[in-house]
Amino acid sequence: MPKQYFYITTPIYYVNGAPHLGHAYTSTAADVLARWNRLEGHDVFFLTGTDEHGQKVEAAARLAGVEPQVFTDRVSADFQDMARVMNISNDDFIRTTEPRHKEAAQAIWLKLQENGFIYLGKYEGWYSVRDEAFYDEDELTIKPDGTKAAPTGAPVEWVIEPSYFFKLSAFQDRLLEFYAANPGFIAPPSKRNEVHNFVKSGLRDLSVSRTSFSWGIPVPGDEAHVMYVWMDALVNYLTACGYPDMTGPRAGYWPASLHLVGKEIIRFHAVYWPAFLMAADLPLPERVFSHGWWTVEGEKMSKSLGNFIDVRPLVAEFGLDPVRYFLLREVPFGNDGDFSRKALIGRINSDLANGLGNLAQRTLSFIAKNAGAVVPPKGELCEPDCVLLALAGELPEKVRGAMTRLAFHEALDETWRLIRAADGYIDHQAPWSLRKTDPERMNTVLYTLCAVLRTVAVVLQAFMPELMNRLLDYLGVGAERGLAILDTPLLEGMALPAPAGLFPRIQDA
Ligand code: ME8
Ligand code: MG
Repeated sequence: MPKQYFYITTPIYYVNGAPHLGHAYTSTAADVLARWNRLEGHDVFFLTGTDEHGQKVEAAARLAGVEPQVFTDRVSADFQDMARVMNISNDDFIRTTEPRHKEAAQAIWLKLQENGFIYLGKYEGWYSVRDEAFYDEDELTIKPDGTKAAPTGAPVEWVIEPSYFFKLSAFQDRLLEFYAANPGFIAPPSKRNEVHNFVKSGLRDLSVSRTSFSWGIPVPGDEAHVMYVWMDALVNYLTACGYPDMTGPRAGYWPASLHLVGKEIIRFHAVYWPAFLMAADLPLPERVFSHGWWTVEGEKMSKSLGNFIDVRPLVAEFGLDPVRYFLLREVPFGNDGDFSRKALIGRINSDLANGLGNLAQRTLSFIAKNAGAVVPPKGELCEPDCVLLALAGELPEKVRGAMTRLAFHEALDETWRLIRAADGYIDHQAPWSLRKTDPERMNTVLYTLCAVLRTVAVVLQAFMPELMNRLLDYLGVGAERGLAILDTPLLEGMALPAPAGLFPRIQDA
């Protein structure tokens, strides 16, 4: 069977400020999906990167007193460091200031122009630098001080300048047809309605160039203009596939399987981006999934509150995999959620230290002390063993279903259902009493537990790669660790290394 392609992207993050919890969240979720698909044996291409042009970034560089390129080099490096710390397994990291991207963005521009979807006009209207977005008058709200604001609360300014326009209005019907024919394109479903209504209410042509600043990709043939930063940024997903050369080694990854984004940028990904692609005669991505927003201890993260959470100190304090686990377990994916130390510590102690960690430690240290430190011989299975093993056997399929819907918390819930069943099993079978009365039975019980732990560890590699690989080491599992190995028996008699605790309990301060 030919390998199935899975191309997944995160948004490329603006380099106007340092990476924080929100960026780490999207990247970690995308990483879990990338790793899961690799476990499935799929051919995965996982892209993340930084969005480095535009007025907002230019202003941040000016404030820092350095040239934009120097500034973006510095901040992009910090995003790359965050990805390294979070163990993000991206296959490429794209920066929009790279020559390959400038080439791709200009090529798509020329294609849109050649196809008759770009014309020169004058933009007169509202613009929010913070959102890098144009707004209609009727979308604005009036703040208590009388000034106008974007629906996001960001300040807006009145802009009058010559501008190229993209004929977005020409795509209203085609977009609506496309959504109808591809009901899975926008997820979750609440977002589908939101986007649908926006498009149905009428699309205006989109201003796609600016002349009042210069930090951007020049419009081919008219260098007084730079490309609108979103027009530039969205193309990154194609750049990484080699565009405009769609014959190279990565061309097969296009169209993307999934663009993972925060809910505030769904419009750009589910309306503008497909319209650009249609206009350029390119295939459309399979799905755009928008997730919710994190607040911190009940407050929105913001510059004025200075409450941005950098995940790196959290990782240093609590360990990487527990933090990754928390991010994906705490909040149903798609919903908003709140970060608090209390919740993080609670999860680590209850689910990891007392749950999985305890089960692994009880089993493995018992084997080390009382069963010759080898994978115990299977012997003859009894009813309770078969029941537990059957439950374990169903886990990959259940997790697969949840992962397809990006229901990470359900995937984890299912896994913990098995962990609790194994806990009940060990209490009932009481291998410590079998040690003297029936050592053969004891071995069968321990074998069963090892098999369950292997299933749990293989599946959870996507979420907690480092610690689950250690657990697989403790279980004597070889280098091949994809889902397919769950169809093979454990290596009875195989010598096991000395196990150590995986998840220390956190003392709550
Ligand atoms: O929008 N909670 O970049 P950006 C959850 N450059 N996720 C959050 C979050 C929060 N509080 N804050 C940020 C841009 N995110 C554009 C994208 S793509 C072609 C261009 C995550 O730096 C979430 O994924 O503002 C959100 O969509 C993204 O960071 C926005 O990052
Ligand atoms: Mg943003």
